[in-house]
Amino acid sequence: MADELKSQVAELRVDGQVVALPVLEDTAGFRAVDIRGLWKDARVYTYDPGFGCTVSCQSAISHVDGEKGQLLYRGYPVEVLTEHCTFVEVAYLLIHGTLPTHAQSEKFSALFNRHSMIHEDMRTFFRRYPERAHPMAVLSAMVVSLSSFYPEVEQTDEDIDIAATRLLSKLRTIAAFSYKKSIGEPVSQPSYKLSYCANFLNMMFSSPVTDYQIDPVLVRAMNQLLILHADHGQNCSTSTVRLVGSSGANLYASVCAGICALWGPLHGGANQEVIEMLKTIQREGGHVDKAIAQAKDKTNPRRLMGFGHRIYKTFDPRAGIVKKICTEVLARTGTRDPLLDIAMELEGKALADPYFIERKLYPNVDFYTGIAYRAMGFPSDMFTVLFALGRLPGWIAQWQELRRDPHQRIGRPMQLYTGPMNPAFVPIEKRP
Ligand code: SDX
Repeated sequence: MADELKSQVAELRVDGQVVALPVLEDTAGFRAVDIRGLWKDARVYTYDPGFGCTVSCQSAISHVDGEKGQLLYRGYPVEVLTEHCTFVEVAYLLIHGTLPTHAQSEKFSALFNRHSMIHEDMRTFFRRYPERAHPMAVLSAMVVSLSSFYPEVEQTDEDIDIAATRLLSKLRTIAAFSYKKSIGEPVSQPSYKLSYCANFLNMMFSSPVTDYQIDPVLVRAMNQLLILHADHGQNCSTSTVRLVGSSGANLYASVCAGICALWGPLHGGANQEVIEMLKTIQREGGHVDKAIAQAKDKTNPRRLMGFGHRIYKTFDPRAGIVKKICTEVLARTGTRDPLLDIAMELEGKALADPYFIERKLYPNVDFYTGIAYRAMGFPSDMFTVLFALGRLPGWIAQWQELRRDPHQRIGRPMQLYTGPMNPAFVPIEKRP
């Protein structure tokens, strides 16, 4: 746990009274004032809408340094894991805290395989969705439905391991099935012969009338893209999973809430919004200057999607890796995507523009992912589903850490009330 700096104390003066508050320091040297006693000692709260300056928990899962542009998973740089690991290995690392041995990896993969199919009764749900249903709506509903099919409460570590691998494996199947439903094609079942990502690509793109060949280059790209999304500190959706989990809600309900939070265009939904933005620029003649001007115009709701970040005030390390994957996938598939040219021109001009420089706005993980996904054949409404697939091990690990943390209580922030106090009550019969 974060060390309490006994020698360092923050002092707060309220109404002439000095309140001493301990300072906590984490393993990366980040510090936080411990205000848990503030109301008791000084009868004041802290005010921080959006929690931009608030630490909500102590966590050993990932570390994001926005000044250095650094992302660590259990201490390992994401660049190392993306280069040398599979997504399943990284999922194990996030959930268990160590990279798996060969035996642990085989056991984990066997659990993935055992849980890869969905209950036949769940498949009837798909038939009732309209074709235009957004896959994120299907995904969230299916995940919370898993608690009806698997109601056993996660008590032991073994229970959580089974629930975790069941969710990790089934979410991939549900994602592929929701895509097949949306294009009116029969589903392809998971195969015990295939790895996690090869299985997913096969379930997504194989069909009875094509000789779909699983491309190892695209399997590697899929592994890397999922690893890059696997965890990212206390972002909006992870904080949502923790808040829901803090009430004692089960893993499926907590992850369902996380999926819904991720769907927002300011968060995981941005990867789909980036492509829509690039398509608009292309449709309007390919001039990026107009998009940049609109993004800077405070009277215009449009923002430069895929740009900016609450934590990164330099390059998001993931964006650079995704950009490299983009070029590899485009080369492998022999496709040229004019949207990539537009994106690169947009990035270049924005990074040279004082508005973005002053605000330290850089491309984030969502800026290039859509171009890689398009080249792999995914439709844009599946992009946020892919983000959810990648983030799932992080959500599970964070939910598990919360449940084991002795410091954690039910999440219940306070507010500053701005409504009236005791207005005169007029019964309905005397009102106009
Ligand atoms: C993800 O938190 C995480 O870790 C998230 C994530 C993860 O892995 O979980 O990294 C994934 O969600 C990445 C972000 C994806 N979202 C987008 O790309 C949407 C576009 N970006 C913005 O909406 C914004 O940058 C946010 C939402 C990402 C961050 O919002 P903040 O931290 O609340 O920043 P802000 O709105 O306070 O912006 C500060 C200034 C403002 O201008 P001023 O009022 O100071 O004049 O920067 C401006 C903003 O208007 N600004 C932008 C902008 N982002 C910020 N202006 C134009 N275009 C943008 N994209």
